[in-house]
Amino acid sequence: MSRSNELNIGFIGFGNMAQAIAEGLILKGTVAADRMYACARNWDKLCRNTERYGIHGCRDAGETVERSDVVIVAVKPYLVEEVLMQVRERLEGKILISVAVNFLFDKFEEFLVPGTHHLSTLPNTPVAVGEGIILCEEQHSLTQDEFAMVRELFESIALVEMVDGGHMGIAGTLSGCGPAFAAMFIEALSDGAVLHGLPRELSYKLASQMIVGTGKLQLSAGRHPGAMKDGVCSPGGTTIKGVAVLERKGFRSAVIDAIDAVERR
Ligand SMILES: NC(=O)c1ccc[n+]([C@@H]2O[C@H](COP(=O)([O-])OP(=O)(O)OC[C@H]3O[C@@H](n4cnc5c(N)ncnc54)[C@H](OP(=O)(O)O)[C@@H]3O)[C@@H](O)[C@H]2O)c1
Repeated sequence: MSRSNELNIGFIGFGNMAQAIAEGLILKGTVAADRMYACARNWDKLCRNTERYGIHGCRDAGETVERSDVVIVAVKPYLVEEVLMQVRERLEGKILISVAVNFLFDKFEEFLVPGTHHLSTLPNTPVAVGEGIILCEEQHSLTQDEFAMVRELFESIALVEMVDGGHMGIAGTLSGCGPAFAAMFIEALSDGAVLHGLPRELSYKLASQMIVGTGKLQLSAGRHPGAMKDGVCSPGGTTIKGVAVLERKGFRSAVIDAIDAVERR
């Protein structure tokens, strides 16, 4: 089995998620752009997107599969079966990776050629800067060597977590929808600062780095988030006044309800 940087990677569908993965792999130097291939529906749009990175554009899914060792299917979930049916025989000897929401192992087994090596994942958009999360379904049909190689590829751009099929949905909601919620928090913090005269760009920069740093602190120390909050709140101090307002305004319950609303969709 080749090492991850010797593989040719193909994207069937080259929209937001495929480009985020490609961008991260190029940024981290994991895979050279000229080892990547992509197809999409609209040829002119595909050319604009692939030329930006120096990736090869392919006329169709068949050509993409032909030229790749690892095929990443990144079309909308309702199109996954339709596009893969056109190339199912050609997937023999390839590694197929799905990034489609709600498309787990059992669903692929219903229409892929028996014995196809496939893995269902859920990445989030921060993979573009090498700080993503890629959830991998525990059940897959890659060999140990293939999985080790895919893991090496993904770990260059993300935290890789194995998740059982029953928890892929909720884990994906947290990691996939979370960036939208976090971005709203960054915007709101910055609005508060701008209200008090801080320039807009500086506000965004400080709010974003504060989120990055707080997340890294939690990951490295494994501390309870409540303890991290307590660590910043001195008795009768300023931060606890803000915390009390957030509690009164239902900040935490609003976030819990947001996750719950996504899960109940
Ligand atoms: N965006 C996220 O944050 C996120 C997170 C986790 C998982 N995902 C999953 O990632 C997948 C892609 O989502 P996205 O947000 O990247 O969607 P997107 O931006 O709409 O991209 C979809 C891509 O599929 C292409 N396409 C459509 N029909 C095709 C066909 N018949 N053959 C080949 N390519 C075709 C589109 O080409 P044209 O543009 O030319 O139509 C486009 O390049 C979805 O399954 C989604 O569930 C996304």
